[in-house]
Amino acid sequence: ESAGSDAKNLRVKLVLLGDSGVGKSCIVLRFVRGQFDPTSKVTVGASFLSQTIALQDSTTVKFEIWDTAGQERYAALAPLYYRGAAVAVVVYDITSPHSFHKAQYWVKELQKHGSADIVMALVGNKADLQDKREVSVQDGTEYAEKNGMFFIETSAKTADNINQLFEEIAKRLP
Ligand code: GTP
Ligand code: MG
Repeated sequence: ESAGSDAKNLRVKLVLLGDSGVGKSCIVLRFVRGQFDPTSKVTVGASFLSQTIALQDSTTVKFEIWDTAGQERYAALAPLYYRGAAVAVVVYDITSPHSFHKAQYWVKELQKHGSADIVMALVGNKADLQDKREVSVQDGTEYAEKNGMFFIETSAKTADNINQLFEEIAKRLP
């Protein structure tokens, strides 16, 4: 097919991974419903939502999103959700070096056990909290580059870069 001439409808299984409290559920809520919940509850097990976007060439991409629970007690469940996923979005909180280390753990886990052709994105969330930043843009960028990932900083609170995150993922689908 020549680029841009034929409309396609893609369906994509996407999993979000990352430490508890980094904002995974808020990113999904912002993307799917355009809302932000400052009192967001911790996710139990995982939750499922879907959202369809249209690209410029009139391709549509339906994201089937598995929002996993970041609390340690749920770690053993993660393979159920990332197995067979075409896309993994690994999230950390730019104010938390611990969450950045946890993100690296998930990247290694995905490299070992995820699909061979998985598209991976590294997301530094809570970019609105610049005065509390403890993970530099450079640290995120370098780690992502080394691991062949797409990198972006987002804010589920202000909506900054949330749609861009999913649009960039869509562009990178095989
Ligand atoms: P688990 O479900 O336990 O894995 O956590 P989670 O990653 O889903 O975190 P959640 O989305 O529930 O957000 C945790 C807290 O961070 C909530 O109090 C949110 O309001 C807050 N939060 C999420 N995203 C942002 C953001 O971009 N900026 C700011 N300032 N706060 C955020
Ligand atoms: Mg959650």
